[in-house]
Amino acid sequence: MGDGRILCVGLACLDIISVVDRYPEEDTDTRCLSQRWQRGGNASNSCTVLSLLGARCSFLGSLAPGPVADFVLGDFQKYGINVSLVSEHAQCSFPASVVISNAASGSRTILHMNRNLPDVTPDDFSRVELSHYKWIHWEGRNADEQVKMIQQVALYNSTLPEQRRITVSVEIEKTREPLYQLFSHGDVVFVSKDVAVHFGFHSAEAALRGLYRRVRQGAVLICAWAEKGADAMGPDHVVVHSDAFPPERLVDTLGAGDTFNAAVIYTLSNGGSLQEALTFGCQIAGRKCGVHGYDGIVTKKDEK
Ligand code: ADP
Ligand code: FRU
Repeated sequence: MGDGRILCVGLACLDIISVVDRYPEEDTDTRCLSQRWQRGGNASNSCTVLSLLGARCSFLGSLAPGPVADFVLGDFQKYGINVSLVSEHAQCSFPASVVISNAASGSRTILHMNRNLPDVTPDDFSRVELSHYKWIHWEGRNADEQVKMIQQVALYNSTLPEQRRITVSVEIEKTREPLYQLFSHGDVVFVSKDVAVHFGFHSAEAALRGLYRRVRQGAVLICAWAEKGADAMGPDHVVVHSDAFPPERLVDTLGAGDTFNAAVIYTLSNGGSLQEALTFGCQIAGRKCGVHGYDGIVTKKDEK
């Protein structure tokens, strides 16, 4: 399995989080319980959790140099995440989200802005030393280009015996038509509740039954459904389910999905079963919902 690292490709942004005790009325002036800066972005958040779980992981994304990039890079470093692959784009703005985090319900309201920072290109990706990785995860973004990157991996895999091949996972979170081509490009495909609902499904199980025909032969399709937990379907067409593990108090659901994805990838990449991966994904994501940020969601016992 090469060096056995996990690579996540996607967004790193700044999350400016205001924690409130109730959601504000429009055109009012509210005091927050607290405010903080946090490194955000789906792929970046999944790296945080993978690293907390003890996996060796790398992040591939774009950065616009400046004080925000320094903060973000410092935080990647704090979590031991390799960032030697990031590409810097001078003259661009760093993407940021303003997040209203309601500590009373755990809800997170995200206002995201990405003015001009380009996504990772196949050219950036060609610098990746593929032999270092056992798993590469793509957060669905510039899908046309991401398919070309995944094809680079397929070509590499075609030269190797099965046990040394890189596993490819993709996340289809947003309801954007171009992202749907990714269904047929992952060994493991994460589809969000939002996308499932957009396709007219009212449960994770219905979504899996309806969308599985879009994935390639042998692939696993996974759908998380917030407080209902998560379901998955593999090539045997059997639906596997885990209930959610709600924390004592829901305080912050920002990045719950990214946490779930990381814990599932971690389990599957260590040879765990689909049921073990779903259960662990929901356990760790549930703990995340009970704390602000990500620290403290992993205990020594969780590491394989
Ligand atoms: P996101 O909205 O961040 O993409 P999801 O709604 O897909 O997150 O949830 C991912 C996982 O996080 C769920 O499968 C569940 O295990 C956990 N989770 C999310 N919201 C809750 C909640 N309200 N209570 C308990 N667990 C939750
Ligand atoms: C959470 C997150 C945040 C970021 C936003 C971008 O899943 O990655 O960290 O601000 O989504 O859409």
